[in-house]
Amino acid sequence: MAMSEQGGGTALVTGANRGIGREVARQLAERGYRVLLTARDSDQASAAAEQIAGDTGATVRALALDVSDAQSVDAAAASVRADPGRLDVLVNNAGVGLDFGISGTAPDFDAIEQTLQTNFYGAYRLTIALLDLLRNSAHPRIVNVSSGMGGVAEMGGWSPGYRVSKAALNAVTRILATELKDDGFLVNSACPGFVKTDMGGPMGASKSVEDGASGIVWLATLSDDGPTGGFFRDGRPVAF
Ligand SMILES: NC(=O)c1ccc[n+]([C@@H]2O[C@H](COP(=O)([O-])OP(=O)(O)OC[C@H]3O[C@@H](n4cnc5c(N)ncnc54)[C@H](OP(=O)(O)O)[C@@H]3O)[C@@H](O)[C@H]2O)c1
Repeated sequence: MAMSEQGGGTALVTGANRGIGREVARQLAERGYRVLLTARDSDQASAAAEQIAGDTGATVRALALDVSDAQSVDAAAASVRADPGRLDVLVNNAGVGLDFGISGTAPDFDAIEQTLQTNFYGAYRLTIALLDLLRNSAHPRIVNVSSGMGGVAEMGGWSPGYRVSKAALNAVTRILATELKDDGFLVNSACPGFVKTDMGGPMGASKSVEDGASGIVWLATLSDDGPTGGFFRDGRPVAF
């Protein structure tokens, strides 16, 4: 994992009250970023922000944000626009897996729709809402937390909603990376690996949140000569 890193600046992480997102927020705070720690439950956001600020000495601000709710996205963007008026790093981490193990031949379309609302529309809508604030950064970075399950090149069966949501997110990574390349943006997708969280734990994952988060933080803190439009796990390319 070379090509790190841009220190300082302001970073916003979604779904940061628990799991990988919380650890990404902690690692960014440790590196001196001012962190906007967002979660859909504002009490949980505040509790996590307080603990990380206490542990790291960094400035960590809690912000309520449900990425699947367009009004919540607009309100959060307005809050960041008012203060600090600039964003250096956006980590689209919030995600749900609502149809793990469900056959593609017997899909649950309600679950697929809900999954897309968070994993795809949520991340995309938030990115667009924050784009002008990212343009105010000298080194804007966007990390979309995807999954190897969304890689079309090696796509397997089952979990159609989750797989399609992450494949669509990866497509947005490529689209935005291309269109924003000349503006200094680095936009990448990250797969954290199979991580022991509320999502991965019940399926038998054993990778620590620290290890899962570090590849995301690497992409969030790339220097200007870093990659864009890529898909990485632990700093190594993954097939789209
Ligand atoms: N764990 C793995 O093995 C693994 C593997 C590949 C990819 N990933 C991806 O990594 C990311 C983090 O996963 P995780 O393992 O940390 O999962 P997790 O422990 O289940 O945490 C998911 C986080 O996303 C939040 N979230 C869900 N819906 C949201 C919404 N509409 N708005 C805002 N936040 C929302 C949750 O908030 P609440 O507490 O409010 O529910 C929670 O903070 C996800 O995108 C996931 O797909 C995980």
